[in-house]
Amino acid sequence: MTAQIIDGKAFAATVRGKVAEHVTRLKADHGITPGLAVVLVGEDPASQVYVRSKGKMTVEVGMNSYEHKLPAETSEAELLALIDQLNTDPAVHGILVQLPLPGHLNEDLVINSIDPAKDVDGFHISNVGLLATGQKAMVPCTPLGCLMMLRDYHGSLSGLNAVVIGRSNIVGKPMAQLLLRDSCTVTIAHSRTRDIEEVVRRADIVVAAVGRPEMVKGGWIKPGATIIDVGINRIDAPEKGEGKTRLVGDCDFASCAEVAGAITPVPGGVGPMTIACLLANTLTACSRANG
Ligand code: GUN
Repeated sequence: MTAQIIDGKAFAATVRGKVAEHVTRLKADHGITPGLAVVLVGEDPASQVYVRSKGKMTVEVGMNSYEHKLPAETSEAELLALIDQLNTDPAVHGILVQLPLPGHLNEDLVINSIDPAKDVDGFHISNVGLLATGQKAMVPCTPLGCLMMLRDYHGSLSGLNAVVIGRSNIVGKPMAQLLLRDSCTVTIAHSRTRDIEEVVRRADIVVAAVGRPEMVKGGWIKPGATIIDVGINRIDAPEKGEGKTRLVGDCDFASCAEVAGAITPVPGGVGPMTIACLLANTLTACSRANG
């Protein structure tokens, strides 16, 4: 079998197009422009790339982008004061604090200081609880993007066996909640899972979010299964020349694509969907704020 490629890049462009249409209508009919504030503390190179990309796409869909770049030595009190100001700013409908934060800052405290209605990441404890209890929540962007691709490919997910590899608060746990909400039978596998290959082999849907390059091999996959690869890992690529690198997922693409029914590529799969969902969440937050 050669798997169908799930084109996250094209899907994300469609989602952004729909968001842009809504934004145009909000502006024309109500004079409202959605605004997204992104806060970056420190100079982590990967975070800088993500934040730049988020800002660019926010503007492209017609929203206002407010970037706050703070030095690595910013105190907790200073960061909380900024969040407080953004919470009360009526032009700001969504707030995202880029993670990871420098070690001296308490991530939980910072995230939970964001107004839950503006928490477009869906990381605030209120949104986590709302999602877990099946209520209307802000849903974390990466799992939401994965779910949209799965629904688009499968139609109904009801009754399917889903295995989520990874138990992070950002991806693994909310992904499991979303799949459960869509009536999948859900298993969360992680670094301590025994016979992980056997566990994965039972899955109709595999979501890999462990951050270990090419960990999942084709031999672990049930023939015809759908693979959503959340991993973005940079590895050495001596075949491209000295000092060169390339991006790979958590799945060994070549061997998995031989067995799976469908698979997301890296890059061009989950990554673009994450930003598209961030914009969709910002639009949702803006619409809710304005009745
Ligand atoms: N760092 C890595 N992924 C994310 C994300 O989805 N949101 C935020 N705020 N930080 C991240």
